[in-house]
Amino acid sequence: MTTTITAPQFVRHQALIDWVANIASLTKPANIEWCDGSEEEYDRLINLMIENGTMIKLNEEKHPNSYLAFSDPSDVARVEDRTFICSKQQIDAGATNNWKAPDEMRAILNEKFDGCMAGRTMYVVPFSMGPLGSHIAHIGVEITDSPYVVVSMRKMARMGKAVYDVLGTDGEFVPCVHSVGKPLSDGKKDVAWPCNDDKYIVHFPETREIWSYGSGYGGNALLGKKCLALRIASVMGREQGWLAEHMLILGVTNPEGKKHYIAAAFPSACGKTNFAMLIPPAGYEGWKVETVGDDIAWIKPSADGKLYAINPEAGFFGVAPGTNTKTNSNCMSMLGSDVLYTNVAVTEDGEVWWEGKTKEPPANLINWKRQQHDGSEKASHANARFTVSAAQCPSIDPQWENPEGVPISAFIFGGRRADTVPLVSEAFDWVDGVYKAATMGSETTAAATGQQGVVRRDPFAMLPFAGYNMADYFTNWLEMGDKLNKLTAQHGTTMPKMFKVNWFRRDEHGDFVWPGFGQNMRVLEWIINRCEGNANAVHTPIGLVPTYDDINWAESNFSQQQFDLVTSQDKNSWIQELNDHKALFEKLGERMPQALIDHQAKLLDAVQKS
Ligand code: OXD
Ligand code: MN
Repeated sequence: MTTTITAPQFVRHQALIDWVANIASLTKPANIEWCDGSEEEYDRLINLMIENGTMIKLNEEKHPNSYLAFSDPSDVARVEDRTFICSKQQIDAGATNNWKAPDEMRAILNEKFDGCMAGRTMYVVPFSMGPLGSHIAHIGVEITDSPYVVVSMRKMARMGKAVYDVLGTDGEFVPCVHSVGKPLSDGKKDVAWPCNDDKYIVHFPETREIWSYGSGYGGNALLGKKCLALRIASVMGREQGWLAEHMLILGVTNPEGKKHYIAAAFPSACGKTNFAMLIPPAGYEGWKVETVGDDIAWIKPSADGKLYAINPEAGFFGVAPGTNTKTNSNCMSMLGSDVLYTNVAVTEDGEVWWEGKTKEPPANLINWKRQQHDGSEKASHANARFTVSAAQCPSIDPQWENPEGVPISAFIFGGRRADTVPLVSEAFDWVDGVYKAATMGSETTAAATGQQGVVRRDPFAMLPFAGYNMADYFTNWLEMGDKLNKLTAQHGTTMPKMFKVNWFRRDEHGDFVWPGFGQNMRVLEWIINRCEGNANAVHTPIGLVPTYDDINWAESNFSQQQFDLVTSQDKNSWIQELNDHKALFEKLGERMPQALIDHQAKLLDAVQKS
């Protein structure tokens, strides 16, 4: 039976109203609230969460208009083993995604969602990924029973009433259904952060639907971000000739005023937000780095063969631990007010703290589990987050909302590797660049549940986010290269260059050698100069690399010896590395593009002969 519902006047889209009615009859909420994105709504939901114990208000003087949410201790990260791509054919999901036949999954979801919102309010949250009404934006509507999701979506996407104006009576939208999976029977008291031990994060790529059950954590529950803007958008992009990527976008301006935009892919919690907001170090007076986005890029080719990127998000959902005025001073300024924190620690007088914010924790700290911090475990969770509007970022780029996007001069692919991979290397050509990205490896972090610190292959940093077969995804990149090659030759324009970086090499004591953060500017300058044809590089079997003298060391005391440590290429390690690449390609199966298989053999041969 379908519930009859009354939508407010600003919703004129009958198919959307019918869908909401259908979901309501399945999930059986106590109330339905059509969110308008207003301040009144935001304040009301925040107060509701303060009353039910999910959130606390922070010290108004130190953190104006800011709040801290505590999650259930089991619900703190993305759940990759519970994330599914339910394409009709298993092969279309590929070897790296969990798959279930759509009918089988729908039967499970029908059972899970049946009555799952009992006793709760169901919120209908309209949002736009990309500037509202622009030709590159895509609209989603998220149904959720979590007020935490509603207030977070207001920061992370263009959310509210105006979305319905753009949708009109028959506009396209991606339907997204989310429930924390904790129905409330009559009179039962709610827990502060409801969630369910059983979790399902499900995507139907052919029908472009998202269903998420059992988790309130951002990456599992704010469905515009990883689910729509990466998994579903990557499928749309493949069909329509564009790319949806797990990449930051930054602009670099040199002292002569010449500006380049760079898109960079790093796995989760590998410093994307810090890199996107980099402050050039002493010695780099006159240089400027500006931020377009810190996590997701939608990239489209223009008729003359350039690539233009937009950031589809409107906010940052960043990792707090390790952030301080030295590692990311722009970020610290951005966190001055109007922030939603999750799972950081808090002092008795309402000031937030996380590991790395200051050297020593303040006295009388309450940890993220709401217990007195006694030093026996970390005060904030390693994946504790801040959620904040992008407009608050002091380094936000003037073009960040330009619907045409910004032209990309270079791609950077990075991973967290203690050894083997040098500080920076430039790809010989597009195929080599795609190979470098396809074989990215990184030590795992706290952004996803599971073992941490083990090297796993994370192609293009998209392992958890590609909405289709990873081998087809590589083909999509190779085909984009063919297209750009033709267009740039016709129009006399240039292809973006591709680089691989590794900020995380360690010495024999296990300490990081490269200082990272602002010092990454030195590598960025070399990259920009390579794009301009103004910098030297040396040919090695695995790429083009700078010598010590090719890097600008103004006001740095980083020695030649240290440079050798972070750039060394050990032959045996590289033979092992290339064999690991081969194992990855074998795992990816029959659709693996031959060009990359051949490239592996070519590189192995070159390394063996070196
Ligand atoms: C993120 C992630 O939250 O990659 O951006 O996990
Ligand atoms: Mn991310």
